[in-house]
Amino acid sequence: MPDTKPVAIFCTDLDGTLLGRPEDTARFRQTWEALDEAKPLLVYSTGRLVNDAIEKIEQAGLPTPDYYIGGVGTIIYHPASETTLEEFSCSLSEDWVRADVQRIVQSIPGIEEQPAIQQHQWKSSWFWYDASEEDLDQLRKDLATAGLKAQVVYSSKRDLDVLPQAANKGNALRWLCKTHDIELDRAVVAGDTGNDSSMFLVPGVRGIAPANAEPELLEAIEGIGAFTASGECTAGVIEGLRQYGVFPNPADSTTGQD
Ligand code: GLC
Repeated sequence: MPDTKPVAIFCTDLDGTLLGRPEDTARFRQTWEALDEAKPLLVYSTGRLVNDAIEKIEQAGLPTPDYYIGGVGTIIYHPASETTLEEFSCSLSEDWVRADVQRIVQSIPGIEEQPAIQQHQWKSSWFWYDASEEDLDQLRKDLATAGLKAQVVYSSKRDLDVLPQAANKGNALRWLCKTHDIELDRAVVAGDTGNDSSMFLVPGVRGIAPANAEPELLEAIEGIGAFTASGECTAGVIEGLRQYGVFPNPADSTTGQD
């Protein structure tokens, strides 16, 4: 039964998932900090770059994680030692030429580059409103024709990330599990948009989708048995963590939040 293995790693998106409602964020923090020493590894996996994510979680009062996965699965950062796992980032370089990606993407009519703070060596990010599946497929073809092994990730009907082929949140999670010798079915993930689907689709992983999850995510994870919460953002995450036995299930409180 997928629900029964003790959870060894909890990997969650930030915006729209663990962030969004300050009162629930504080509840998450208290409950997380009250868990005993054997608590799962805590990983924040976000489209933001690491410095931006650190600032954001400090403002929100979230607990410091064991790792950050930043830039949509392109960087893994270990805050306790203040180190970036270079070996991981370097593994992404194969057939990735960022300048060529830029040239191809910027020729799309109406597309706009995201601010410099969102860009780095392995992440090319754009605003592209209401792109269709056909538009995205065309871009994939154009990149492939240019000999680039790039991956197109589209979220929230607006955010386009073009990343190296091996870079996504799911692969970064696999990397961490391997490094820590954690079986994939001992991982729980949470997320609300398209860039989170790769985490849910890692075989064996248990997923939590809060009530505000975007249709693009729900379509991508249809039929895999992820927990769909009734609460939004952090409230939904807390429900899911109770479902999977990470958080206690207090007899005097309901599991849902309207
Ligand atoms: C975050 C990042 C942005 C990215 C989006 C979707 O908002 O800041 O660069 O495009 O996530 O992955």
